[in-house]
Amino acid sequence: MTGLEKLVSGGLPEGSPILISGSPGTGKTLFGLQFLHHGVLCGEPGIYVTFEEPRESLVTASENFGWNLEEAAKERKFAVMEYFDLGNEVYFSEMESMRAHLAELESRRKEVTLRDKAEEIDVSMADYQTRLKQIEEMVTERRYTLTQHEREQQFVERLFTLVSTMGAKRLVIDSLSAYAIYDESREAIHRFVRRIRDLGTTTLLISELPKNSAGLSRDGVSEFVCDGIILFSLERTKEATFRKIRVEKMRHTKIDGAERFLWFTDTGLEVRDRPQEI
Ligand SMILES: Nc1ncnc2c1ncn2[C@@H]1O[C@H](COP(=O)(O)OP(=O)(O)OP(=O)(O)O)[C@@H](O)[C@H]1O
Ligand SMILES: [Mg+2]
Repeated sequence: MTGLEKLVSGGLPEGSPILISGSPGTGKTLFGLQFLHHGVLCGEPGIYVTFEEPRESLVTASENFGWNLEEAAKERKFAVMEYFDLGNEVYFSEMESMRAHLAELESRRKEVTLRDKAEEIDVSMADYQTRLKQIEEMVTERRYTLTQHEREQQFVERLFTLVSTMGAKRLVIDSLSAYAIYDESREAIHRFVRRIRDLGTTTLLISELPKNSAGLSRDGVSEFVCDGIILFSLERTKEATFRKIRVEKMRHTKIDGAERFLWFTDTGLEVRDRPQEI
Protein backbone atom coordinates (compact mmCIF):
# COMPACT_ATOMS: atom_id res chain seq x y z
CA MET A 1 0.00 0.00 0.00
CA THR A 2 1.42 3.36 -0.97
CA GLY A 3 2.70 5.13 2.10
CA LEU A 4 2.59 2.14 4.43
CA GLU A 5 6.29 1.47 3.96
CA LYS A 6 6.91 4.84 5.59
CA LEU A 7 5.20 3.57 8.73
CA VAL A 8 6.65 0.06 8.68
CA SER A 9 10.14 -0.09 7.28
CA GLY A 10 10.52 -3.07 4.99
CA GLY A 11 6.76 -3.70 4.92
CA LEU A 12 4.80 -6.23 6.97
CA PRO A 13 7.04 -8.97 8.40
CA GLU A 14 6.67 -12.19 6.42
CA GLY A 15 4.99 -15.13 8.13
CA SER A 16 3.64 -13.06 11.01
CA PRO A 17 0.13 -12.63 12.37
CA ILE A 18 -0.78 -8.92 12.35
CA LEU A 19 -3.80 -7.51 14.12
CA ILE A 20 -5.91 -5.01 12.18
CA SER A 21 -8.16 -3.22 14.64
CA GLY A 22 -10.78 -0.58 14.09
CA SER A 23 -14.38 0.45 14.53
CA PRO A 24 -17.02 -0.13 11.79
CA GLY A 25 -16.42 1.48 8.42
CA THR A 26 -12.78 2.38 9.01
CA GLY A 27 -11.48 0.44 5.97
CA LYS A 28 -10.32 -2.86 7.53
CA THR A 29 -11.93 -5.11 4.94
CA LEU A 30 -10.69 -3.03 2.00
CA PHE A 31 -7.20 -3.00 3.48
CA GLY A 32 -7.34 -6.80 3.66
CA LEU A 33 -8.52 -7.10 0.06
CA GLN A 34 -5.85 -4.70 -1.14
CA PHE A 35 -3.22 -6.73 0.71
CA LEU A 36 -4.34 -9.86 -1.14
CA HIS A 37 -4.62 -8.06 -4.47
CA HIS A 38 -1.08 -6.83 -4.05
CA GLY A 39 -0.03 -10.40 -3.30
CA VAL A 40 -1.62 -11.55 -6.57
CA LEU A 41 0.47 -8.96 -8.43
CA CYS A 42 3.72 -9.99 -6.78
CA GLY A 43 3.26 -13.74 -7.04
CA GLU A 44 2.05 -14.37 -3.49
CA PRO A 45 -1.32 -16.17 -3.58
CA GLY A 46 -3.76 -15.33 -0.81
CA ILE A 47 -6.91 -16.48 0.96
CA TYR A 48 -9.68 -14.36 2.45
CA VAL A 49 -11.66 -16.01 5.24
CA THR A 50 -14.97 -14.24 5.69
CA PHE A 51 -17.48 -14.64 8.51
CA GLU A 52 -20.09 -12.08 7.62
CA GLU A 53 -19.59 -10.40 4.29
CA PRO A 54 -20.42 -12.74 1.39
CA ARG A 55 -17.89 -13.48 -1.34
CA GLU A 56 -19.77 -11.48 -4.01
CA SER A 57 -19.74 -8.35 -1.88
CA LEU A 58 -15.98 -8.62 -1.40
CA VAL A 59 -15.38 -9.15 -5.11
CA THR A 60 -17.65 -6.23 -6.05
CA ALA A 61 -15.98 -3.90 -3.53
CA SER A 62 -12.62 -4.83 -5.07
CA GLU A 63 -13.81 -4.13 -8.60
CA ASN A 64 -14.47 -0.51 -7.57
CA PHE A 65 -10.73 -0.11 -7.28
CA GLY A 66 -9.94 -2.07 -10.41
CA TRP A 67 -8.76 -5.19 -8.53
CA ASN A 68 -9.84 -8.16 -10.56
CA LEU A 69 -10.01 -10.84 -7.90
CA GLU A 70 -12.40 -13.01 -9.94
CA GLU A 71 -9.68 -13.42 -12.54
CA ALA A 72 -7.13 -14.12 -9.80
CA ALA A 73 -9.48 -16.77 -8.35
CA LYS A 74 -9.58 -18.54 -11.73
CA GLU A 75 -5.80 -18.61 -11.73
CA ARG A 76 -5.80 -19.98 -8.15
CA LYS A 77 -4.00 -16.93 -6.84
CA PHE A 78 -6.92 -15.85 -4.70
CA ALA A 79 -9.65 -17.70 -2.84
CA VAL A 80 -12.46 -16.83 -0.45
CA MET A 81 -13.47 -19.22 2.33
CA GLU A 82 -16.91 -18.58 3.79
CA TYR A 83 -16.59 -19.83 7.33
CA PHE A 84 -20.19 -20.80 7.94
CA ASP A 85 -20.40 -22.80 4.75
CA LEU A 86 -17.50 -25.04 5.67
CA GLY A 87 -18.24 -28.63 4.76
CA ASN A 88 -21.32 -27.65 2.75
CA GLU A 89 -19.58 -27.17 -0.60
CA VAL A 90 -20.56 -30.59 -1.90
CA TYR A 91 -24.24 -29.78 -1.34
CA PHE A 92 -23.88 -26.45 -3.12
CA SER A 93 -22.84 -28.07 -6.36
CA GLU A 94 -25.65 -30.60 -6.04
CA MET A 95 -28.16 -27.80 -5.44
CA GLU A 96 -26.82 -25.89 -8.40
CA SER A 97 -27.23 -28.80 -10.79
CA MET A 98 -30.73 -29.51 -9.43
CA ARG A 99 -31.74 -25.91 -10.01
CA ALA A 100 -30.41 -26.06 -13.56
CA HIS A 101 -32.33 -29.27 -14.18
CA LEU A 102 -35.52 -27.76 -12.76
CA ALA A 103 -35.20 -24.76 -15.04
CA GLU A 104 -34.81 -27.11 -18.00
CA LEU A 105 -37.91 -29.10 -16.98
CA GLU A 106 -39.85 -25.88 -16.58
CA SER A 107 -39.11 -24.74 -20.10
CA ARG A 108 -39.96 -28.21 -21.48
CA ARG A 109 -43.22 -28.11 -19.52
CA LYS A 110 -44.22 -24.94 -21.35
CA GLU A 111 -43.69 -26.56 -24.72
CA VAL A 112 -45.47 -29.92 -24.29
CA THR A 113 -49.06 -30.18 -25.34
CA LEU A 114 -49.79 -33.83 -24.56
CA ARG A 115 -51.50 -34.11 -21.18
CA ASP A 116 -49.73 -37.32 -20.11
CA LYS A 117 -46.35 -35.86 -20.88
CA ALA A 118 -47.15 -32.65 -18.97
CA GLU A 119 -48.21 -34.64 -15.91
CA GLU A 120 -45.06 -36.68 -16.07
CA ILE A 121 -42.96 -33.50 -16.05
CA ASP A 122 -45.01 -32.09 -13.17
CA VAL A 123 -44.31 -35.15 -11.04
CA SER A 124 -40.65 -35.02 -11.87
CA MET A 125 -40.48 -31.31 -11.01
CA ALA A 126 -42.25 -31.86 -7.69
CA ASP A 127 -39.70 -34.56 -6.84
CA TYR A 128 -36.83 -32.25 -7.57
CA GLN A 129 -38.39 -29.41 -5.59
CA THR A 130 -38.89 -31.61 -2.54
CA ARG A 131 -35.31 -32.88 -2.66
CA LEU A 132 -33.96 -29.37 -3.18
CA LYS A 133 -35.91 -28.10 -0.18
CA GLN A 134 -34.58 -30.95 1.96
CA ILE A 135 -31.00 -30.15 1.05
CA GLU A 136 -31.54 -26.44 1.68
CA GLU A 137 -32.91 -27.20 5.14
CA MET A 138 -30.03 -29.52 5.91
CA VAL A 139 -27.46 -26.95 4.84
CA THR A 140 -29.10 -24.31 7.05
CA GLU A 141 -29.14 -26.70 9.96
CA ARG A 142 -25.50 -27.70 9.46
CA ARG A 143 -24.57 -24.02 9.59
CA TYR A 144 -25.82 -23.80 13.13
CA THR A 145 -25.50 -27.22 14.66
CA LEU A 146 -21.80 -27.98 14.34
CA THR A 147 -20.12 -27.57 17.69
CA GLN A 148 -17.39 -24.98 17.97
CA HIS A 149 -14.84 -27.73 18.38
CA GLU A 150 -15.98 -29.54 15.20
CA ARG A 151 -16.06 -26.31 13.28
CA GLU A 152 -12.64 -25.21 14.44
CA GLN A 153 -11.18 -28.60 13.59
CA GLN A 154 -12.72 -28.58 10.10
CA PHE A 155 -11.69 -24.99 9.59
CA VAL A 156 -8.06 -25.51 10.47
CA GLU A 157 -7.83 -28.66 8.35
CA ARG A 158 -9.42 -26.98 5.33
CA LEU A 159 -7.26 -23.93 5.74
CA PHE A 160 -4.05 -25.99 5.94
CA THR A 161 -5.03 -27.90 2.82
CA LEU A 162 -5.96 -24.76 0.90
CA VAL A 163 -2.79 -22.94 1.94
CA SER A 164 -0.62 -25.81 0.79
CA THR A 165 -2.46 -26.53 -2.49
CA MET A 166 -2.46 -22.85 -3.47
CA GLY A 167 0.98 -22.18 -2.06
CA ALA A 168 -0.67 -19.25 -0.24
CA LYS A 169 1.64 -16.70 1.33
CA ARG A 170 -1.02 -14.27 2.51
CA LEU A 171 -4.13 -14.70 4.58
CA VAL A 172 -6.88 -12.44 5.92
CA ILE A 173 -9.28 -13.49 8.69
CA ASP A 174 -12.31 -11.18 8.73
CA SER A 175 -12.84 -11.26 11.58
CA LEU A 176 -11.14 -12.66 14.63
CA SER A 177 -13.96 -11.10 16.65
CA ALA A 178 -16.56 -13.18 14.81
CA TYR A 179 -14.44 -16.28 15.34
CA ALA A 180 -14.10 -15.57 19.04
CA ILE A 181 -17.84 -15.12 19.58
CA TYR A 182 -18.10 -18.83 20.34
CA ASP A 183 -15.16 -18.98 22.67
CA GLU A 184 -13.76 -15.76 24.02
CA SER A 185 -11.38 -17.38 26.45
CA ARG A 186 -7.75 -16.34 26.49
CA GLU A 187 -6.78 -19.89 25.82
CA ALA A 188 -8.96 -20.15 22.68
CA ILE A 189 -7.47 -16.98 21.18
CA HIS A 190 -3.94 -18.11 21.95
CA ARG A 191 -4.61 -21.50 20.39
CA PHE A 192 -6.15 -19.96 17.29
CA VAL A 193 -3.33 -17.46 16.71
CA ARG A 194 -0.76 -20.22 17.29
CA ARG A 195 -2.43 -22.38 14.65
CA ILE A 196 -2.50 -19.46 12.24
CA ARG A 197 1.17 -18.79 12.90
CA ASP A 198 1.93 -22.44 12.08
CA LEU A 199 0.53 -21.85 8.59
CA GLY A 200 3.53 -19.66 7.85
CA THR A 201 1.45 -17.08 6.00
CA THR A 202 1.58 -13.34 6.59
CA THR A 203 -1.84 -13.02 8.17
CA LEU A 204 -4.08 -10.04 8.84
CA LEU A 205 -6.43 -10.79 11.73
CA ILE A 206 -9.22 -8.25 11.74
CA SER A 207 -10.67 -7.18 15.08
CA GLU A 208 -13.86 -5.16 15.31
CA LEU A 209 -13.53 -2.47 17.91
CA PRO A 210 -16.65 -0.86 19.29
CA LYS A 211 -16.95 2.82 18.36
CA ASN A 212 -14.73 5.07 20.51
CA SER A 213 -13.12 2.08 22.19
CA ALA A 214 -9.83 2.75 23.92
CA GLY A 215 -8.68 -0.87 23.61
CA LEU A 216 -6.50 -2.41 20.94
CA SER A 217 -8.72 -5.38 20.12
CA ARG A 218 -12.17 -6.59 20.95
CA ASP A 219 -10.95 -9.61 22.87
CA GLY A 220 -8.20 -7.87 24.83
CA VAL A 221 -5.79 -10.76 24.18
CA SER A 222 -4.84 -10.82 20.52
CA GLU A 223 -2.77 -7.63 20.79
CA PHE A 224 -0.34 -9.59 22.93
CA VAL A 225 -0.12 -12.67 20.74
CA CYS A 226 0.12 -10.98 17.34
CA ASP A 227 3.46 -9.69 16.06
CA GLY A 228 2.05 -6.41 14.86
CA ILE A 229 -0.91 -4.09 15.38
CA ILE A 230 -2.31 -1.54 12.95
CA LEU A 231 -5.13 0.65 14.18
CA PHE A 232 -7.79 2.14 11.90
CA SER A 233 -10.06 4.90 13.11
CA LEU A 234 -12.37 7.73 12.15
CA GLU A 235 -11.98 11.25 13.38
CA ARG A 236 -14.99 13.51 13.42
CA THR A 237 -14.63 17.21 13.88
CA LYS A 238 -17.42 19.76 13.58
CA GLU A 239 -16.47 20.42 9.97
CA ALA A 240 -15.41 17.07 8.63
CA THR A 241 -14.73 13.37 9.10
CA PHE A 242 -11.58 11.58 8.02
CA ARG A 243 -9.96 8.19 8.29
CA LYS A 244 -6.79 7.59 10.26
CA ILE A 245 -4.21 4.84 10.51
CA ARG A 246 -1.51 4.17 13.09
CA VAL A 247 0.99 1.39 13.60
CA GLU A 248 0.94 0.46 17.26
CA LYS A 249 3.60 -2.25 17.17
CA MET A 250 5.55 -4.42 14.75
CA ARG A 251 7.97 -6.88 16.36
CA HIS A 252 11.58 -6.69 15.18
CA THR A 253 10.76 -3.89 12.76
CA LYS A 254 11.40 -0.17 12.87
CA ILE A 255 8.12 1.73 12.90
CA ASP A 256 6.84 5.26 12.72
CA GLY A 257 4.09 5.19 15.33
CA ALA A 258 2.63 8.57 14.39
CA GLU A 259 -0.98 8.91 13.40
CA ARG A 260 -1.41 9.31 9.62
CA PHE A 261 -4.34 9.66 7.31
CA LEU A 262 -5.95 7.04 5.16
CA TRP A 263 -7.01 8.06 1.67
CA PHE A 264 -9.34 6.27 -0.68
CA THR A 265 -8.11 6.75 -4.26
CA ASP A 266 -9.32 5.23 -7.55
CA THR A 267 -6.79 2.44 -7.22
CA GLY A 268 -6.99 1.75 -3.50
CA LEU A 269 -6.07 2.92 -0.02
CA GLU A 270 -3.03 5.13 0.61
CA VAL A 271 -1.34 6.56 3.68
CA ARG A 272 -0.77 10.30 3.50
CA ASP A 273 0.20 13.12 5.82
CA ARG A 274 -2.87 15.25 5.08
CA PRO A 275 -6.47 14.25 5.84
CA GLN A 276 -9.03 13.38 3.18
CA GLU A 277 -12.50 14.62 3.97
CA ILE A 278 -15.25 12.03 3.66
N1 LIG B 1 -14.47 3.78 -3.54
C1 LIG B 1 -14.61 4.30 -2.32
N2 LIG B 1 -14.29 5.57 -2.07
C2 LIG B 1 -14.44 6.10 -0.85
N3 LIG B 1 -14.91 5.42 0.19
C3 LIG B 1 -15.27 4.15 0.01
C4 LIG B 1 -15.13 3.52 -1.25
N4 LIG B 1 -15.54 2.23 -1.13
C5 LIG B 1 -15.90 2.08 0.16
N5 LIG B 1 -15.75 3.22 0.84
C6 LIG B 1 -16.04 3.44 2.28
O1 LIG B 1 -15.27 2.51 3.01
C7 LIG B 1 -15.97 2.10 4.16
C8 LIG B 1 -16.03 0.61 4.26
O2 LIG B 1 -14.77 0.11 4.33
P1 LIG B 1 -14.59 -1.35 4.90
O3 LIG B 1 -15.70 -2.23 4.48
O4 LIG B 1 -13.23 -1.76 4.55
O5 LIG B 1 -14.71 -1.04 6.45
P2 LIG B 1 -14.60 -2.02 7.68
O6 LIG B 1 -13.66 -1.40 8.62
O7 LIG B 1 -14.30 -3.37 7.18
O8 LIG B 1 -16.05 -1.95 8.27
P3 LIG B 1 -16.87 -3.08 9.11
O9 LIG B 1 -16.24 -3.11 10.48
O10 LIG B 1 -18.23 -2.55 9.13
O11 LIG B 1 -16.73 -4.36 8.38
C9 LIG B 1 -17.36 2.61 4.03
O12 LIG B 1 -17.55 3.59 5.02
C10 LIG B 1 -17.44 3.17 2.63
O13 LIG B 1 -18.17 4.34 2.66
MG1 LIG C 1 -15.31 -5.20 7.26
